[in-house]
Amino acid sequence: MIQKQINTTIEIYDSVTELPDDIQKLMKSAVNARDSAYAPYSKFMVGAALILDNGEVVKGSNQENASYPSGLCAERTAIYASGANYPNQKIKAIAITATSEKHDVLEPIAPCGACRQAIAEYEQKQDEPIEIYFTGTKGKVIHVRALLDILPLAFDNKFL
Ligand code: THU
Repeated sequence: MIQKQINTTIEIYDSVTELPDDIQKLMKSAVNARDSAYAPYSKFMVGAALILDNGEVVKGSNQENASYPSGLCAERTAIYASGANYPNQKIKAIAITATSEKHDVLEPIAPCGACRQAIAEYEQKQDEPIEIYFTGTKGKVIHVRALLDILPLAFDNKFL
């Protein structure tokens, strides 16, 4: 038996205002995207905005359904919209934010496992990392340099 350690570096910013200007702008688009969330069941509204190589910003928000599993997270709404509309553009970064009608969201909201898997697919497709920035409604922002940094031992097409 051997033991291996998997290390991940995350950067924690105290607030959005500490981010580089272009990422602050992207986070504003994510906040804007949040307003289009359809979340009548959870009352938890998530916005995601991603920026492409050509400078285009693609937004997504969570879309729920009375048949709960049919809903989709903000991150996948955004990444699939970019794949459908800009199939040949690389994705540089994704900003994610969330708010709730039920409580203050003061911790950074990390993408769920299914969204990590979906983003990992595009990282592999474009063969370049996708930077991820996530926050709550206010407060700290976490930055990771690549999706695979938060999805170690990912399943991908080399197993198929
Ligand atoms: N949600 C997202 O949009 N992204 C995530 O990464 C986690 C959860 C949504 C799904 C659902 O509409 C609501 O948040 C509560 O889980």
